[in-house]
Amino acid sequence: MSAKVNKIREDFPILSRSIYGKPLVYFDNAATTQKPKAVVEAISNYYYNDNANVHRGVHYISQYATGAFEGVRKKVAGFIHAAHAHEVVFTRGATESINLVAWSFAETFLNAGDEIIISALDHHSNIVPWQVACERKSAILKVIPVTPEGELDLEVFKNLMNDRTKIVSISHISNALGTINPVAEIVKLAHDRQIPVFVDGAQGLSHGPVDVQSLDCDFYAFSAHKMYGPMGIGGLYGKTEWLNKMKPYQLGGEMIDKVTFERTTYNELPYKFEAGTPNVADVIGLGAAIDYLTVLGWEFIIAQEQDLLHYATMKLEEIEGVTIIGTAPHKAAIISFIIEGIHFFDAGTILDHLGIAVRTGHHCAQPLMDIIGISGTLRASMAFYNTRAEVDRLVDGIMKVKQLFA
Ligand SMILES: Cc1ncc(COP(=O)(O)O)c(C=O)c1O
Repeated sequence: MSAKVNKIREDFPILSRSIYGKPLVYFDNAATTQKPKAVVEAISNYYYNDNANVHRGVHYISQYATGAFEGVRKKVAGFIHAAHAHEVVFTRGATESINLVAWSFAETFLNAGDEIIISALDHHSNIVPWQVACERKSAILKVIPVTPEGELDLEVFKNLMNDRTKIVSISHISNALGTINPVAEIVKLAHDRQIPVFVDGAQGLSHGPVDVQSLDCDFYAFSAHKMYGPMGIGGLYGKTEWLNKMKPYQLGGEMIDKVTFERTTYNELPYKFEAGTPNVADVIGLGAAIDYLTVLGWEFIIAQEQDLLHYATMKLEEIEGVTIIGTAPHKAAIISFIIEGIHFFDAGTILDHLGIAVRTGHHCAQPLMDIIGISGTLRASMAFYNTRAEVDRLVDGIMKVKQLFA
């Protein structure tokens, strides 16, 4: 293990705990990443010293908390290269961001007979909200198919778009197979036909830099807990022109400009989409996570994760009976695999007893599993704090699983 990774692991106390007497190997980072001390401390410091409701207070701590909260909005905008901080709306996470746009965009722009395009690689969070929007508005949901390697079929995509297509929504990185989708190319193809594109970036922001302006996407959703930040907080990037035109998703305090019993006018962006008291402490935690990633730097993160991806892929391919599902050339450090003749739940349970945490099941991508013709996989998803030695532990674990079922 490199000295740098060794040092980084000290920032994550959970990585030195044991499970059933064995040192934990945490390979479930696509479900949620671990949190460095700096994030946890930022949250507790906020509650110990700075807790106050934001925006409406004249008193010192309220103003301080407001400054810290809005400072993180600017930080997020800088992190994803948004043109304006008001294009960043805080939400509970990627799921809420998708629901926000699926409801609000549909309410504002979708009519009977219109079409929405999603992809076969998507998480349920990027399927169900659009599906229900289509049901509500008598619109039609179309799906970009996936190739046997786990890539989106862009030739079919080009033909799916037509004059009735109102929005395209795709994931940046597939949580189930690890495929990194060619988002910029998809945006270009859609924009050539004046169709906006929503990107589900739940898995995107933890594996590499995101520049929403160069991607030119119209919306980008993310969750802090998948990028070393706290749970229950995330965000939505939206271009000003779209957010201004869309109806507010939730109603109440904060999102209003003027209220009378007859009529309400709405606040400016981003507050129009932030009804109620926000999750200030976790926004502060998100800011600390961004600081942490910024200090580490994408160059290191990408190099470390790609090394783990290639090493683990090579090692798993050597095991007889193991098949990797999803072999796209551009992948994040997420490997789905099956073991011939052994159910993923059985294998996952045995690995757990060896201290190895992998995810098992359909990974919230049941339609994709149906297309592949399986009910689920084992999934090892790695982060910059993981090591080749941990990959070796996984490989040994799989050999033990195979012996038990031989
Ligand atoms: C690709 C993708 N989209 C959306 C989500 C939903 O994210 P959250 O549960 O943080 O809202 C996930 C979570 O696993 C995901 O991997």
